[in-house]
Amino acid sequence: MVEPKGKLGVLLIGLGAVSTTFIAGVEAVKKGLGDPIGSLTQMGTIRLGKRTEKKIPKISDFVSLAVLDQLVFGAWDLFSEDAYAAAVNAGVLEADLLKQLKPELEKIRPMKAVFDTRYVKRLQGTHVKQDKTKWELAQRLIEDIEQFKEDNDLERTVMIWCGSTEIFISPSGVHQSLESLEAGMKGNDENIPSSMIYAYAALKLGIPFANGAPNLTVDIPAFLELAEGNQVPICGKDFKTGQTLMKTILAPGLKARLLGLSGWFSTNILGNRDGEVLDDPESFKTKEESKLSVLEYILQPEVYPQLYGDFYHKVRINYYPPRRDNKEGWDNLDIFGWLGYPMQIKIDFLCRDSILAAPLVLDLVLFLDLAKRAGMSGIQEWLSFYFKSPMTPPELYPEHDLFIQLMKLKNTLRFMRGEEQITHLGMDYYE
Ligand SMILES: NC(=O)c1ccc[n+]([C@@H]2O[C@H](COP(=O)([O-])OP(=O)(O)OC[C@H]3O[C@@H](n4cnc5c(N)ncnc54)[C@H](O)[C@@H]3O)[C@@H](O)[C@H]2O)c1
Repeated sequence: MVEPKGKLGVLLIGLGAVSTTFIAGVEAVKKGLGDPIGSLTQMGTIRLGKRTEKKIPKISDFVSLAVLDQLVFGAWDLFSEDAYAAAVNAGVLEADLLKQLKPELEKIRPMKAVFDTRYVKRLQGTHVKQDKTKWELAQRLIEDIEQFKEDNDLERTVMIWCGSTEIFISPSGVHQSLESLEAGMKGNDENIPSSMIYAYAALKLGIPFANGAPNLTVDIPAFLELAEGNQVPICGKDFKTGQTLMKTILAPGLKARLLGLSGWFSTNILGNRDGEVLDDPESFKTKEESKLSVLEYILQPEVYPQLYGDFYHKVRINYYPPRRDNKEGWDNLDIFGWLGYPMQIKIDFLCRDSILAAPLVLDLVLFLDLAKRAGMSGIQEWLSFYFKSPMTPPELYPEHDLFIQLMKLKNTLRFMRGEEQITHLGMDYYE
């Protein structure tokens, strides 16, 4: 595997709450002002060999990952404010902390966005590229990336969509091959939203791409073709943070104990810009699809019709400005046990959206770079751990159970280093 020498460029599409909390967090950790809590690459360990061997290195000592000092940040946004102003605006991190990071954050000024309000109806911006066709816009992005690489003397780059959730788009003819996608870009096909133009630029240049929002973006046959052809790792969709994280922790537990489910009602109140965008029914539909699929896959109603054949699942997101980024996720579960006797579980998760998302962005940057250096390409299913709606090839259903996802991730790391897989069978301890 190629060693992570030199600088790693991190290109973020969207310089909003998640991106600025991620960048500021990395700078804070570098200065010893905080710990990278929630990040597997920074704090996680991996067991090797038998339990009796007590070999549990840190993941960062086991596989060769880029270190924080090697990261260089760049971004695009339709608002021209720098990362410091954007972080202040997002209101996630305290003013005192941000002041200490001001010199580093002020240097990050977003490039002009590829943006069309048709795909994110609640936003209007002026810091936007004006080329006539989607094809020309992609060429401008390619120039931006090349300039960014040259200016910062970068060895490698990764790109992460941290932009707003676009309206729901179903896969259609134009998405089916690289040839039809390129023709569609030249003809301004309306089924090609801004996010696909960024993904095209990235994959064309061999840059790994992760999609942190539920938009279709890179999850189309045309991009699978390009990713395989250009040997680029891709993954998505939609960071698995607050409520869905809880769901994918709890649902496997209910299923493990064969407890039935008659209903799961989830509602969120949040007041950041993400909440405002999701207040638009068309953007919400994209998010809803992503959040709803989780339970079906984990609980397998077709395998357990008595337990999960008829549960009612509802997800709501309500824009409520006073809460800003501090989302409240309420869940009510109606479950049933022995002889069908009903019970209830209530969860009230007072979470912080971007605080939960930032470590995922960091891990995805470092793991995608690792995957690229290891010669892996196409869909990186081992990174499903990070997503609400993990990408898989068409013939495969996604794995949503957080614990299976984690085992898959760690076994992939063991595989990369030629270490034995851990099955947890453990019979040999008793021989
Ligand atoms: N826990 C979480 O925060 C979480 C979890 C899962 C998914 N997400 C998704 O991550 C994304 C970012 O969340 P956020 O809270 O940072 O939102 P945000 O609204 O604070 O930031 C998004 C930024 O993207 C910019 N943007 C939108 N379209 C763009 C384009 N075409 N080009 C460049 N910039 C563009 C917006 O101007 C904004 O500054 C959202 O789609 C959200 O749904 C967030």
